[in-house]
Formats: sequence, C-alpha cells, structure tokens
Amino acid sequence: MAERIAEEKLNEIRQAVDIVDVISDYVQLKKQGRNYFGLCPFHGENSPSFSVSPDKQIYHCFGCGAGGNAYSFLMEAEGLTFMEAAIKLADRANIDLQLDLSAVSAGKPVSKENQQMIEAHELLRKFYHHLLVNTKDGQHALEYLLGRGFTIESINKFEVGYALGTWDFVYKFLAKRGFSTALLEKAGLIIKREKDGSYFDRFRDRIMFPILDKNGNTIAFSGRSLGADEPKYLNSPETAIFNKSKILYNFHLARPSIRKLQQAVLFEGFADVIAADRSGVENGIATMGTALTDEHITLIKRNVQSVIICYDADNAGVEAAFRAATALSAAGSYIRVAQMPDGMDPDDYIKKFGADKFRNDVIGASIPFMSFKLLYYRRGKNLQDEGDRLQYIEKVVKEISRLDKAVEKDHYLRQLASEFSLSLDALMQEQQQYTRVENRKTTSKSAEKPAKKWAGAMKTEQLKPAYHTAERRLIAHMLRSSDVAYKVQERLAGSSFNIDEHQAIITYLFGYYEDGRAPDPGAFLNYLQDPKLKRLVADIEMMSINEEISQQEMSDYIKQVLNYQKMLMIKEKEAQEKEADRQKDFAKAAAIAMEIIQLRKSL
Ligand code: CTP
Ligand code: MN
Repeated sequence: MAERIAEEKLNEIRQAVDIVDVISDYVQLKKQGRNYFGLCPFHGENSPSFSVSPDKQIYHCFGCGAGGNAYSFLMEAEGLTFMEAAIKLADRANIDLQLDLSAVSAGKPVSKENQQMIEAHELLRKFYHHLLVNTKDGQHALEYLLGRGFTIESINKFEVGYALGTWDFVYKFLAKRGFSTALLEKAGLIIKREKDGSYFDRFRDRIMFPILDKNGNTIAFSGRSLGADEPKYLNSPETAIFNKSKILYNFHLARPSIRKLQQAVLFEGFADVIAADRSGVENGIATMGTALTDEHITLIKRNVQSVIICYDADNAGVEAAFRAATALSAAGSYIRVAQMPDGMDPDDYIKKFGADKFRNDVIGASIPFMSFKLLYYRRGKNLQDEGDRLQYIEKVVKEISRLDKAVEKDHYLRQLASEFSLSLDALMQEQQQYTRVENRKTTSKSAEKPAKKWAGAMKTEQLKPAYHTAERRLIAHMLRSSDVAYKVQERLAGSSFNIDEHQAIITYLFGYYEDGRAPDPGAFLNYLQDPKLKRLVADIEMMSINEEISQQEMSDYIKQVLNYQKMLMIKEKEAQEKEADRQKDFAKAAAIAMEIIQLRKSL
C-alpha cells in the first residue's frame, strides 16, 4: 500500500501536519512541559497517561502501550488503512497526493459503494427538506411540526424533511440519477416485495430526520409518523454506513459547543435535542432509541468529560438515566442528572414552560450523580416504614463509601444524618467499614491484573532488569544517529539484544539506514509494519535521554547487555556442574567450575 504514495509526498505531509492538531480532534490535550497529556482514546482510564510529543511528532500511552505517529493514530482511532490515513492527512494539509483515485477505490470496493450510499442519502436529505418547506405536498407536515413548537430556523438547521406518501417516488427519483437498485436496497432506502420482486420506498408520509455521522455525512434517516401510526419512529436498518450503536444524533453539529462548554447533554430523543437547541442548549446529543453502548461512551469520552443526562421523567427514563449514568461514570465521566416534573420529556417541558426555565431550572439545576442516587434508591420505598428506611440508609451509605473525595462523603453523610435524625458518628463508622471492605476488594483485584495507571507504568522502568533499560536507551540513541547505531553494532560484535522485540527493532533500523534514509522517528515508524514494534518504538522515543551518548555511557549499556548473556551462561554452567557432581564426575565438575570463574571475572 505504502508504495503507492511517493516518499516525498509522505515527507511533505509529515512536515505540514502537526500531530497535536490531529489528535486534538479526538482527545482533549493539556500542555505539561514539552509534551501534551490527555485521556487515552484507546483504553478506558480516569487519569491521563496518554502523551503527545510535538518535538518528535509521536504519541504514546503509558497505560496501554499504544503509540506511533499521526498515521498510526488515525489508523487506530478510525480503523483506517495506511493509504486512507495518508489521504486524510494530505487533505488536512491541502496537499495533492496526485493519486489515481480509481486505483485506490479498486483496492477498496466497499469504500466506493459506501460513498455512493452517502451520496444517495445526501440527495434525499435535500429533497425531503425541500418537500417539507417549499411544497404543497409537505404543507400538512410543516403545520404539524410548527404546531409542536418547531421553528423554521431549527427545521432548517437540522434539515428536517418530509417523505411523500407515494409508494415508489424515492426509488424512481434515485434510479433516474444513476443509483442501482441493489445499492438502494443495501442502503435501506427501498424494500423488495416478496410476491413479485418489485420495490417500494421504506419511508412514506413521514417527517424525516437525517442522521449524520461525525464528519457530517448523511448516513441514515429516522422518520416520524404524523399521526398515531405505528411505529412512531421508523429508522433506517443497519447498513455498511449506519451502525446505531456507534451513532449519536446531532454529534456533528454539537461538537463545537461541547468542546467550548466542556460539557455535553445527553437526551433520549431527536425531538428533545432539537427543542433544547432552540432553547439555546446546543451541546445536546441523543442515542437512536437504544441504550448507551460502549462505543457511544468511547465517542463521548474522546470529546468531553462532563455529561448532563436529561432523560424523560417517566419510569423508563429514570431507569435508563441511572444505567447510562452508571456506565459513563464507570468509564470516568463526570455525571450530573437533570430533572423535570413527573411524566414530562424535555420537548414537552420547553413547550409548556419556555426556553429560559428549561435552561435555568432543568439544565442549570442538574444534580450530581450521587444526589440522583439518593432519590433513585427511594423509589418504591416507604420511608415511614422502619425496614424500608434502614434498607435505604444502608444502600446509600454503601454508595457514599465509594466516593473519592472525603468532603463529598462528609457532605452526603451529613445530609443523611439530618434527614433521618441519625448520629453522624455512627454513619461515619459504618461508612468506614464499607470503605475497608471495598479497599480489600480492589487490592486483591489489582494483584491479579497489574494496575495500568500511569504511576504504576512509570515505575516499571525501575523494576525492569538493568539490561532491559540499557537496551532501550541504546535504541533511543540509535534512532537518533546512524553513527551511534553502527558503533553499537560494532561493539556488540555479533551478539544480539536480549529482548526479541528490541533485536527486531534494530534489525529494521539497519535496513532503514541502509536504504540511505536519515534518522527521523516519524519516518521510521512508517517504515515499520508491525504495530507492536511501532508502539514499542514510540514508547522508547518518549524516554528522556541526553542529547548525545558518551563513550562511557555506551560502554556501560553494552556491558549490561552482554553481561546478561554471560549470566545466563553461568546459570547454565552451574546446572551442568551440579549434574556432574551428582554423577560423581569430579574432573568434569572442576573443569566447569573453572569456566564459571572465568565468566564471572569477565563480568
Ligand atoms: N424511538 C424509536 N422507535 C420508536 C420510538 C422511539 O427509535 N418506535 C427512539 C427515537 O430515537 C426517539 C427516542 O426513541 O427519538 C425517544 O422516544 P420517545 O420518547 O417515545 O419519543 P420522543 O422523543 O418523545 O418523540 P415525540 O416527541 O415525537 O413523541
Ligand atoms: Mn416527546
């Protein structure tokens, strides 16, 4: 693949693109010293172990080991091939790759088909919108929306549309524009009749909400019936371009506001997102009528840490809010929950009480997840009843014991003590008991799985044997200077590094230098194919080392590398010596003992 793009083009891209910019689209980065830090997009974590070096143009995660350059980042984050990542980066930098694009799509036929599906959706989106706002056929639909409180501005902003009630208008409309029947069926826009194999439109006489992916491509529709027709919402089926469990409605439009406010508001429905937007809450997103998935959580976490959950104030909504809050919170998000009078949804609320009240009394008055739990666990309990009351208190104290901050614990314990006229001391004691139990659980857990936290990872450098560190440091210098690389090779005199991956890296590095290339961490990462080695190189690049390596330093490292091999040999000889002793072959044992002494001397 890589051969298709000229080497100088790749260099041009590397010089024009800043990795910090690229990664900032996915991770919130904060500068600390020379590097930037953020929450790793490749594994769930609460404290930042993901670092980006603008000097070296590489990234590395101390937690999960992910690492590489801008290309590998896009490949991992978006699941792209090297070629696709290069095209994306070139696009960013306005560099013309002069690729024969037909050759690219020939290699990836799926991609071309996806592109056509998107085109069909884009055309339809405009067409549906036109029908709604400009035609007589759409007038009743427009009146329905306006009657529900939608404004023309938001209908335009969200490109809401209307699908005619006829059976095959869309089919004909798109066929006339060159889209094949097979493609339209795959895209979920038309459906085949069982009896005669003819086709009809999926969406008829419905209000159409276009669904956009995070890049703003229209990839699906959701159509709402105008009256009481079931289903109320009809969605596009899962297709090559549309996967419900990955899509958040309005994410594309909301992203700038989410970034600016450092907060997102999660709703249950499209109507809620649009009504909230009309009220000035522009950072709203919603799932597509499904529960929040891990993929949704990953997408949210890449962009923002703080989320307000604003679900319907009915039983199902409260349960769903509790589940979403628990999942997001476990992934490290900071959660608040917005509340409304019983039975209302945000759209109803805004219609009844207005935008200001929604912003101030619902979104502005959202409560921390813990306060929501206090209310949640009350549901279905009669707190006048002593049994229910004790059960409730126990549940809540257990929850409080899981809070991170002592002040928070204190706050909620006081609240509980005052509400139920209990002694604060007694509650504190009980809470501490739970904390101890929890601690025991977490320590035994971390014994099974080594903690992936940054602090832990930073320490492993010291825990690793000396030869390991020596090899890493040698590689770090060898990556920066081919002279040093060849000197090390000479000093090793045919011996290899003890860690197989290290040996693999330097083997590739000599191949790279022998092709006449200059030292360049970014370029070498492209040269390496194996993602495991890429990660390791990024990790090594991130070590801080002296600009130059002194003779003394190099000798010390080489000695560590070779000594380990001698140590292994000594161990082997010692075993042989024992064996000779056991067999009463004392002459042999003495000879081996001499060899061991020689080896020890050379250490
Ligand atoms: N939903 C769906 N299929 C249905 C009903 C609902 O996919 N048959 C999804 C839609 O994404 C909808 C969300 O679930 O936006 C919330 O459903 P609901 O609360 O019933 O709808 P509202 O958002 O209140 O829509 P409306 O105000 O138009 O009734
Ligand atoms: Mn509603």
